[in-house]
Amino acid sequence: MRKPFVAGNWKMNTDNHSSVSLADEIASATFGIVSHGIHVAVIPPFVYLQAVTRVLSASNVAVGAQDVYHESNGAFTGEISASMLKDVGCVYVLCGHSERRHVIGETDELISKKVAAAIRGGLLPIFCVGELLAEREASQTTEVVTRQIRSGLAGLSAEKVSAVTIAYEPVWAIGTGLTASPQQAQEVHAMIRKLLGEMYDAQLADEIRILYGGSVKPGNAAELMCERDVDGLLVGGASLNANDFVAIIRAAV
Ligand code: 13P
Repeated sequence: MRKPFVAGNWKMNTDNHSSVSLADEIASATFGIVSHGIHVAVIPPFVYLQAVTRVLSASNVAVGAQDVYHESNGAFTGEISASMLKDVGCVYVLCGHSERRHVIGETDELISKKVAAAIRGGLLPIFCVGELLAEREASQTTEVVTRQIRSGLAGLSAEKVSAVTIAYEPVWAIGTGLTASPQQAQEVHAMIRKLLGEMYDAQLADEIRILYGGSVKPGNAAELMCERDVDGLLVGGASLNANDFVAIIRAAV
């Protein structure tokens, strides 16, 4: 019942020309597959959103943004609001990506405001959580991910949370080539689903999608997708190559 979802986070990569050609290649290569029960999105840098949205307008590939500010407008130099993202055709937005948490320094509290603002603005948040290597080694994965989820979704009703996709991205697996094993991913995904059942209800827990991210490649996508609670993949590096990204989508159908 949970439709698979594969999203490609381009991070701070591509340029004016390559963002458009990459989007174009993905749209052509997925033309037949995407309507077949899978959701696909690309998440380019802000400045290329409009160009990419234009290229993808006749396709089934949706567009997302990598971040959003929680205020709707005003004197917030350099920031982008949910209504602006919606205005240029974004459907999804990443909130709390590990690089924003650990490189830029976003807090659980700020991320929670961003998730709420995204929903209020009619966007579908992809809310990212995940533990550091030291936290995993200290057996704190459940504690960290539970804190991130409770805090990120604080104050939101079940109805609002139904707009959210969760992405579990263990920080130690991002960009390192060290993918979590399917069992490690499944264990945390099942824990997240159980937690959502306790925070909300069984229906929400059953329906919400939980993606895995962290060194997903064409060679490991299928085995990750075989796990019961892995509903899709959030792909970084491999989403910058159309052939690899399409191979991952095919593995997820
Ligand atoms: P990599 O696939 O490059 O490890 O990145 C994962 C990620 O952070 C996606 O948001």
